Amino acid sequence: MKFFIDTADLDDIRDLAETGLVDGVTTNPTLAAKTGRSFVELIREIAAAVPGPVSAEVTALDFPTMMKEAEVLRAIASNVTIKVPMTADGLKACRAITRDGGMVNVTLVFSAAQALLAAKAGATFVSPFVGRLDDLSQDGMELIADIVHIYDQYPGIETQVLVASVRHPLHVVQAAKLGAHVATLPPKVLRQMYQHPLTDKGLESFMKDWAASGQTIL
Ligand code: E4P
Repeated sequence: MKFFIDTADLDDIRDLAETGLVDGVTTNPTLAAKTGRSFVELIREIAAAVPGPVSAEVTALDFPTMMKEAEVLRAIASNVTIKVPMTADGLKACRAITRDGGMVNVTLVFSAAQALLAAKAGATFVSPFVGRLDDLSQDGMELIADIVHIYDQYPGIETQVLVASVRHPLHVVQAAKLGAHVATLPPKVLRQMYQHPLTDKGLESFMKDWAASGQTIL
């Protein structure tokens, strides 16, 4: 399973990229706006910090303007993935960009029917939002199971299921069990995945016993 990080914070991106565990980055207009930075400059720096796909979202709602924005964003770096909303114009742009050799992430997906359309439009990634469904008392993971199952029926579908709106490590584990290709994690969730109280407790006692032995390795 690939791990993307879901942030536009360059300090977090650089820090987590150093772990070697980060395969890409996703941003959205809300995350980008929080930084107060020029969007194009921000994406340029993120794309330079991480070798994998970096999702940058168009903000136009109509096809012709989406295509113009996508052209600007694609020119930044070859790893920039154009994020388009799950709308008729978004899918039209998805089809045009992928046919032209670009990568596209279809975002704001909340149903299996939408995910089918995104695959049909040639999306590189489809982003179902599990946390936002859970917030409405709908089961986000059930949607992931449905999409993975449907895509598995058709070997011609190359669209990768990118689990988005992840709120905690259990979402990541559940998505991995279902065979989702990618999860995009807020930095906090990726850091939480390292942690277990028994790891801390075990390490503390190993270190105490080792110190008592008086030995050193170096
Ligand atoms: C990722 O591509 C999405 O923009 C993101 O995961 C949304 O997460 P949220 O529901 O926590 O805002």
